[in-house]
Amino acid sequence: MSALPAWAEPRTAIVTGGASGIGLAIAERLAAEGASVAIFDRNADAASEAAEKITASGYRAIGLGVDVTDRARIDEAVEEVRRKIGPPTILVNSAGMDGFEPFLKISAESWQRLLAVNLTGTFDCCQAVVPDMIDAGWGRIINISSSSAQTGNPWMVHYSAAKAGVVGFTKALAKELGPKGITVNTVPPGFIDTPMLRRTEENGFLGPGIEAAESTTPMRRVGKPEDIAAACAYLAREDAGYVTGQVIPVNGGRTI
Ligand code: NAI
Repeated sequence: MSALPAWAEPRTAIVTGGASGIGLAIAERLAAEGASVAIFDRNADAASEAAEKITASGYRAIGLGVDVTDRARIDEAVEEVRRKIGPPTILVNSAGMDGFEPFLKISAESWQRLLAVNLTGTFDCCQAVVPDMIDAGWGRIINISSSSAQTGNPWMVHYSAAKAGVVGFTKALAKELGPKGITVNTVPPGFIDTPMLRRTEENGFLGPGIEAAESTTPMRRVGKPEDIAAACAYLAREDAGYVTGQVIPVNGGRTI
């Protein structure tokens, strides 16, 4: 018996928000599994740096400056991916933005912004890439939602609503695209040590702080971006083809 490869043929993956935290770990993991990876991130310099680091490790990656709220730019970048590293048949939507505001202080702009990045960005990236998956008769879409969608969080009504939208979106799209050989799943992370979580702590929105949460987490540690990457690597594999429309929480048991 030999080790099973992740995919039966070469695959190209796009990871949005791939320049930092969870998205970066996912990009690195998929590249290490053998995929050619395109990192889409609003921070173009960080996207290029991340891709260079992956390339220096002997894998294949490109980094592109893409704001997921800009549909024209998404379409342009997907075209560049097709030309440079092949048609994308794996898409991980990890670009995200949190927000902490009491309900009555949430402005129309803030509400729109959080929905635009977290929910509409996911919709636009899927719509831009699904035609390649349909052509290939094969695809894997993984949307990073949040434990906030499962539990709700005070001061995060807009964020929780957007991420809950991602869950419903995932389930509906899974049913629609299943007959085309495309799976669509969502991973809601909980408490993962990333720049986003550190910023939240610095801004005083995490109560007693990150390390203090260890004692209330069944696995007695804070999550690592690699924990989410491992779940995504599984869902992207060839042999995960019968798993679709599912919510696969990775949170150390904090939310069950
Ligand atoms: P992060 O802030 O470390 O990384 C997010 C990346 O997304 C950054 O590189 C940023 O430039 C990029 N980004 C933000 N807005 C963008 C836009 N409009 N277009 C393109 N790129 C954009 O955050 P982290 O923690 O790695 O978060 C990744 C995902 O996981 C997000 O969707 C977040 O909501 C979700 N999440 C994270 C949790 C955690 O504990 N860290 C918990 C639950 C969900």
